[in-house]
Amino acid sequence: MNRYLHRATILAIFLAPLAAATQTTIPILTAHNALVLHTDASGRLLTSYMGERLADTKDYGQTGASYRNAEDILSSAYTPAGSTSLAEPAIAITHADGNRSLDLRYVSHSTSVEKNNVSLTTITLKDPVYAVEVTLFYKVFANEDVVEQWSRIVNHEKGNIVLDKYASANLCLRAGSYWLRQYHGDWAREMQPEETRLTHGIKTIDTKLGTRADLFGPSVFMVSLDKPAGEDEGSVLYGSVEWSGNFRIDLEVDPNDQLRIIAGINNYASPYVLSPNETFTTPAFVYTFSSTGKGDASRRMHRWARDYKIVDGRGNRLTLLNNWESTYFGFNEDTLRGLIKGAKNLGVDLFLLDDGWFGNKYPRNDDHAGLGDWQENRRKLPNGIKALVKEAQQDGVKFGIWVEPEMVNPRSELYFRHPDWVVKQPAREEKYYRNQLVLDLANPAVQDFVYNIIDSLFIKNPGLAYLKWDCNAVIYNAYSVYLKDRQSQFYVDYVRGLYHVLDRIRAKYPTVPMMLCSGGGGRVDYGALSYFTEYWPSDNTDPLERVFIQWEYSYFYPAIASANHVTNWGHQPLKFRIDVAMMGKLGFDIPVGKLPATDLAFCQGALKLYNEIKPVIWQGDVYRLADPYKADCASILYVDSARSSAVLFNYLVNNRYDAGNKLPVRLKGLDPARQYRVQEVNRYPGAPAGREDGKLYSGDYLMKVGLDPQVHADRSSVVLQLKTIPG
Ligand code: GLA
Repeated sequence: MNRYLHRATILAIFLAPLAAATQTTIPILTAHNALVLHTDASGRLLTSYMGERLADTKDYGQTGASYRNAEDILSSAYTPAGSTSLAEPAIAITHADGNRSLDLRYVSHSTSVEKNNVSLTTITLKDPVYAVEVTLFYKVFANEDVVEQWSRIVNHEKGNIVLDKYASANLCLRAGSYWLRQYHGDWAREMQPEETRLTHGIKTIDTKLGTRADLFGPSVFMVSLDKPAGEDEGSVLYGSVEWSGNFRIDLEVDPNDQLRIIAGINNYASPYVLSPNETFTTPAFVYTFSSTGKGDASRRMHRWARDYKIVDGRGNRLTLLNNWESTYFGFNEDTLRGLIKGAKNLGVDLFLLDDGWFGNKYPRNDDHAGLGDWQENRRKLPNGIKALVKEAQQDGVKFGIWVEPEMVNPRSELYFRHPDWVVKQPAREEKYYRNQLVLDLANPAVQDFVYNIIDSLFIKNPGLAYLKWDCNAVIYNAYSVYLKDRQSQFYVDYVRGLYHVLDRIRAKYPTVPMMLCSGGGGRVDYGALSYFTEYWPSDNTDPLERVFIQWEYSYFYPAIASANHVTNWGHQPLKFRIDVAMMGKLGFDIPVGKLPATDLAFCQGALKLYNEIKPVIWQGDVYRLADPYKADCASILYVDSARSSAVLFNYLVNNRYDAGNKLPVRLKGLDPARQYRVQEVNRYPGAPAGREDGKLYSGDYLMKVGLDPQVHADRSSVVLQLKTIPG
């Protein structure tokens, strides 16, 4: 009886606005694209169009008539579970009374301009029977054709409700066929692409690893319409979930041949309880759409990332020397002093001290002990980090440090002091990943601990100029002592806890450069990158492998964010290794003191050159000209926004007889009317220049005829710089 009375009250409150709903069209427009939402006769919100903008805005009103059925539940803009829609839901709720049905009807919408170029459309939906409100957000970056989409769910019921599923976005596309390019991988082989035609039914890309969520595959993907898009032609959507934990993307070719994309946090093992009046805001799903190919889509994404997402995306980055591969854990103050001198000698901006500097009772001399005990190891560093920072400063070099603050080794003082902070099942045997366990960031006390590790490093060492933040374990045996009977919130609260810590760090240290590392690219996503200046694409620094890995990352992330180090991995000459690392943010991880004089001089020269060309690489537009998956050579071009300077990188990726480029490489993005002087740069001392060196060509010629980098076994990598000449 009571329950019915309660429902009657809810009806009175919530049906009033709903009854007034008339059919509404909501076009969400970027410079080139339109997403059109439409209410049907019952006030349900549907997607009626997604694609290129229409010439006449009046036409958007008619898109609602384009459904196969008047009530096309498959086109829901945010599919609720358990009522009349039987398709894969975007949202599923168990109400306070145990009922599991949800229906969402349009209430209102509004658009506000946040700043020039950025606007936010919000659409409020309510269930006509239950007191649940859902607001959909569409943040539009008009010039970049990028949209960030997320939702907010509010529990107005009298008791707790449970969110069984809570996607960020529910898109709906229409085309003759859909081609998915997705990525898989593992440690040291990140970003392996696969492209397939989607068939009817649901294809899911997801992860359940918790922390190092992208280890077997990231949330970035692209979907081409009608045929696989090329670099310069075809319609393609790039999407990604801005979430550094478990994500799930469902791509469904439905019975009406539409493509439904439902993306957000993975609801696996994660029903989330909302108390009365509590709100749940999902992370954003970010996407861009281009009808002129993958190259254009990537350039749009890059512009957006630099201007709106990555920390200091238009700012500076520091070249560096890292000690990891030259010392691993085996160093002392003297070794490091030598390396700092090496950094100075090389001409880099910063020396980065990697793993192994901490732990006393359980010294970090290998990866079995010490994580969690963030005090300098007195044996290795009797005078602490401070002395090293000072030493570096005296040499005119900045100092950075490696941390992995979310983790603990069972062989650590922390593990014994705070067993309740460790993620593990109380009654099960511990299972380790790289001999370590994860700390429970759902717990505010752990958040404080992690924050304080970083804060005290900066307080004790005011000269500290860079942080490499690592994360080398997945979450086995997920269980939080802190969460008690709310275990199913763990995966979500972990990431929220991490972001909370990073928010605090960024509030106090807004621009200090930080590298996002996770045993390589195990955590590269735009959620994390809003706190970081750069990411570590892979521990695999074999330059041949890196050509492929960096190539695929380059579709989604701008070069300024890609930390590339020259190491001794692989069999390629030093020049090749440096040329590859230059396609992003250049660093070194080699024993500088052991370099032969010519190699050292070459590195020094390369750094000077890099300082000259880095603005074009970091801020320019990227054009992928020759695909290493299809040709013997990879060619990538960066062109600055004034189209007055450009850098073309070419690499041999095939060792077979006579492999190399046979035809000239046709350039893109230049000004056809201007003359460009070509110069072959970063030549190894004594190596002759190729025949393009010093030549003058019109942009028109370079784009129609092209130029020949002459890449072959004896010239396995070639860098050409182009500059306009006055007149
Ligand atoms: C991870 C990182 C490496 C290095 C080691 C240190 O594997 O990806 O670059 O920092 O940890 O243990």
